[in-house]
Amino acid sequence: MRIMVIGGGGREHTIIRKLKESPKVDKIYAAPGNGGIAKDAECVDIGVMDKAAVIEFAKENVVDLVFVAPDDPLAAGMVDALNANGIRAFGPRAEAAIIESSKVFSKNLMKKYHIPTAAYEVFDDPAEAIAYIEERNQYPVVIKADGLALGKGVIIAQTQKEARDAVKEIMEDKKFGDSGNHVVVEEFLTGPEVSVLAFTDGISLVPMVSSKDHKRAYDNDEGLNTGGMGTISPNPYYTPEVAEICRKTIFEPTVAAMNSENRPFKGCLYFGLMITPDGPKVIEYNARFGDPEAQVVLPRLKTDLVDIIEAVIDERLSQLNIEWSDTATACVVMASGGYPQSYQKGFEISGLDENGQIEGAEVFHAGTKLENGKFYTNGGRVLGVTAEGKTLEEALDKAYSAVRKISFEGAHYRTDIGKIK
Ligand code: AMP
Ligand code: GLY
Repeated sequence: MRIMVIGGGGREHTIIRKLKESPKVDKIYAAPGNGGIAKDAECVDIGVMDKAAVIEFAKENVVDLVFVAPDDPLAAGMVDALNANGIRAFGPRAEAAIIESSKVFSKNLMKKYHIPTAAYEVFDDPAEAIAYIEERNQYPVVIKADGLALGKGVIIAQTQKEARDAVKEIMEDKKFGDSGNHVVVEEFLTGPEVSVLAFTDGISLVPMVSSKDHKRAYDNDEGLNTGGMGTISPNPYYTPEVAEICRKTIFEPTVAAMNSENRPFKGCLYFGLMITPDGPKVIEYNARFGDPEAQVVLPRLKTDLVDIIEAVIDERLSQLNIEWSDTATACVVMASGGYPQSYQKGFEISGLDENGQIEGAEVFHAGTKLENGKFYTNGGRVLGVTAEGKTLEEALDKAYSAVRKISFEGAHYRTDIGKIK
């Protein structure tokens, strides 16, 4: 098979590494890929939103399957466009990807189908949002831009002033563009967070092994929210009892709800959960693999990923037995100094071998560029240094020993991945 992967981050590098293990795969293209991906696939200079160029390339190069990994092209209908041109693609159509791209949609879906989530109200007028927040007068309060915002459109306001500023930034200053035309104001929940990714063909749903993301930039969960600074799998808070409650009250009802709305979801559905004192609740849905959740989940997958993808597309997932290794994995993200705010790029990365790897760990490249055989930083999140062990402790030890051998100017990473709630 000839497969094309859309995207160019650590998640896509991980997906490509997994696809390479399949005896069914002859050739992998990445659009646009990155410096590390270039060692595992042929990178083509096509942007993730360029439907016409992806379709033309796929036709010319007889691509059998396109894996659309990032949220933006899914929301913009990349899978719909590929299918309309007779090209097989993995990922939800736009009508289903809306479960991530509109928080107003997902909150209303959960309310309508009684799926547990934080209580909320939706506003399209900043003055009304502020009036509601002031009348409610309970802090912290959570304010979310409706649309996609690179994981940064959620503000947890500790005071009335912070809440007013947040509404203003999102709705008036349009910090996230049109994503801020509506806001969701919701109840602040507490409890450990768990990420569960699941394969679904719209009929059945198979959860993958659980994981935990560390979203804040600095140790002790300080600093701004980022796309994710590190992950572990499994998540210690995701016990078999919690998993069973999630299956019954969240996972299966979500698949059924999307079908009832005539928006069948096919692909990877990501449940961002909080295990509150009242039980598990949905914080958010994503319509794709998480980044860096994929980096710890996929290395534990024993079943051929191509077989799973085909079963999802052909709606016969229930016939497949999906197996996972009984290990633990940890991923530590090395980021550019300043991320998630402004940062410089173009610094040489030392400590990697000629394939961009390091002994004892698997390095997934997120923001790197390859020039004359050398790797340079080329993004906010630069590398996802990942290791597997019999225990979480062993995985973390291995990942951090590898991280300490890698350096570039301004490199920043958290030292408490897997160690805090
Ligand atoms: P989201 O982009 O919706 O996943 O939100 C980003 C992060 O904000 C989550 O991972 C949580 O840590 C936090 N968060 C979002 N909604 C809530 C909530 N209702 N209560 C507490 N924390 C929240
Ligand atoms: N790591 C969180 C996400 O991919 O949305």
